[in-house]
Amino acid sequence: SDPLRLGIAGLGTVGVGVLKILRDQADLIAARAGRPLVATAVSARSRDKDRGVDISGLAWEDDPVTLATRDDVDVFVELMGGSDGPAKAATEAAIAAGKDVVTANKAMLAHHGQALAEAAEAAGHVIRFEAAVAGGIPVIKALTEGLSANRVLRVMGVMNGTCNYILTRMQSSGLPYQTVFEEADKLGFLEADPELDVGGIDAGHKLSLLASIAFGTRVDFAAVQLEGIGNITIEDIEQAADMGYRIKLLGVAQMTGRGLEQRMQPCLVPDSSPLGQLEGGTNMVVLEGDAVGQIVLRGAGAGEGPTASAVMADVIDIARGIRLSTFGQPAAGLLAARGASSAVP
Ligand code: HSE
Repeated sequence: SDPLRLGIAGLGTVGVGVLKILRDQADLIAARAGRPLVATAVSARSRDKDRGVDISGLAWEDDPVTLATRDDVDVFVELMGGSDGPAKAATEAAIAAGKDVVTANKAMLAHHGQALAEAAEAAGHVIRFEAAVAGGIPVIKALTEGLSANRVLRVMGVMNGTCNYILTRMQSSGLPYQTVFEEADKLGFLEADPELDVGGIDAGHKLSLLASIAFGTRVDFAAVQLEGIGNITIEDIEQAADMGYRIKLLGVAQMTGRGLEQRMQPCLVPDSSPLGQLEGGTNMVVLEGDAVGQIVLRGAGAGEGPTASAVMADVIDIARGIRLSTFGQPAAGLLAARGASSAVP
């Protein structure tokens, strides 16, 4: 059958990972998707940079908006990042042009995801974003497919690998925050604006997306109670260790009598618990459903292969014709009718 044609905007770590999977696993993916998947066009900041992947056979666009609306693009894959600007403009253009969208852009979705999803759905299309939450961990699929028979009671987790690296490394080395922060910077772990990481904002973006899906509410990033890790001292970490605890930047979302509660803040977790044992750089998400009880998902929350794995899973779902909407269960349309984020589902 006809190939599904992808237009990929952004050829950083994740975009390159997607091109490599398309190149290396073409047969396997075609078999699973029921049709070939091909990249037809790309855009990025620089055309000539050596990325370890050949883009000479792909159409080039300087402007992601033009890319998003090309006739030979069925799915717009947005991997540029940034909550506003070109990423948002191109995503809106893609939806208006009748494309499905796959994005890894947690910041854009936390601020505009509800409106984008409703626009896509109104046009008979979808916006999918497995890669935006906890990188390679298929947590959105776990919620929307695996736990679809459950009332979700709580979602928790460590969703920023950089903060987890800093806190874990402070503990193991005894070095102060500033030294370990500079180390993380040298290793290239920090976002362009480091405050997104250490201020808890990136993790808060992810929590707001997960909460919306888990509880069938509108995405409400503004309501996340946020506290970063910038004030955590080595003394805090050592005192916690003396009592058998570790400090983690932990997100919790749950329904209370007053509505949806979303918190992302440094927390004490028992040393011996799965969260306490989580190594630096990784993510862990704990889901609690009324029927299933508690399940724990752990894995890489960032990086080329893991994030591209999640992007491609969404693309393959679209190729298979899976039209499941993402924000809330069931459809976003129903969600809108159901009202504000404080509604108990
Ligand atoms: N800065 C993020 C992290 C990247 O450290 O988890 C993945 O979203």
